Amino acid sequence: MVQVKTGIQGLDAMLYGGIPEGNQVVVAGGPGAGKTLLCFEFLYRNAQMGNPGVFFALEEEPSRMLLNAKSAFTDFSDIDKMITDKKMIIDGKEPSDKMLAASDPSGYEFGKVVSELEDLISSIGATRVVIDSASVLNMLISDPIAYRRAMISLISDMRRLNVTTLLTMEADNPERSKLQFKPEFFLFDGIISMYQTGEEEKRIRAMEIIKMRGSRHSFVTTPYEINPSGFRVFSAEDTSLY
Ligand SMILES: Nc1ncnc2c1ncn2[C@@H]1O[C@H](COP(=O)(O)OP(=O)(O)O)[C@@H](O)[C@H]1O
Ligand SMILES: [Mg+2]
Repeated sequence: MVQVKTGIQGLDAMLYGGIPEGNQVVVAGGPGAGKTLLCFEFLYRNAQMGNPGVFFALEEEPSRMLLNAKSAFTDFSDIDKMITDKKMIIDGKEPSDKMLAASDPSGYEFGKVVSELEDLISSIGATRVVIDSASVLNMLISDPIAYRRAMISLISDMRRLNVTTLLTMEADNPERSKLQFKPEFFLFDGIISMYQTGEEEKRIRAMEIIKMRGSRHSFVTTPYEINPSGFRVFSAEDTSLY
């Protein structure tokens, strides 16, 4: 089985090498957990390894997401080069009021968004994809059953395109003990969950791999930091092996 390295310090050790190629993985967590930045680093590291990727921003303007990633990761010196070299596309769509007003059980707007993403993927032959966030897609379809169906079709579209995908999803509570996974999370091949506890300076952040189809993985809830040089996950596994 081919594994896709995330390139994130400590996370590949938790994954015993990486994410099985072609897996569709949810990154769940509360606001401010670092979901967007984690996904960005995954794409950036993969771009550096020569694996092209698309970051599809639905929650905020793609240019604002990029500015924020640059200000968080000041040591990532060749972001612009990766973009110029077509190793990384930062694009997306902020759902307009018009799109949301047009949201209907048929999922027509949802389908349009997915076909835009497909065009971007084929434009650079991307093998890595980030969708930030899949929760926004929920707003495009009012009916819960139609939403579930749309998610299943999104997963099969991404499988057909042979891409390894991280999709962020908003969890309703940032604390581990209070977190409830929504049923649609379990449609995916993997779930990585990010937690925050405590206030401001005493804030503790930790991540856990809830599920990863086709791979052994750590079951330990593991602390992490966000640094100018990227994420650091304090894996209990031997990080020197991966
Ligand atoms: N410019 C920055 N410098 C340092 N840390 C930052 C910066 N921007 C964001 N962060 C850190 O990242 C967190 C937000 O990350 P983000 O990926 O946007 O979260 P999420 O997508 O889960 O809401 C902030 O709470 C902060 O700790
Ligand atoms: Mg975000």
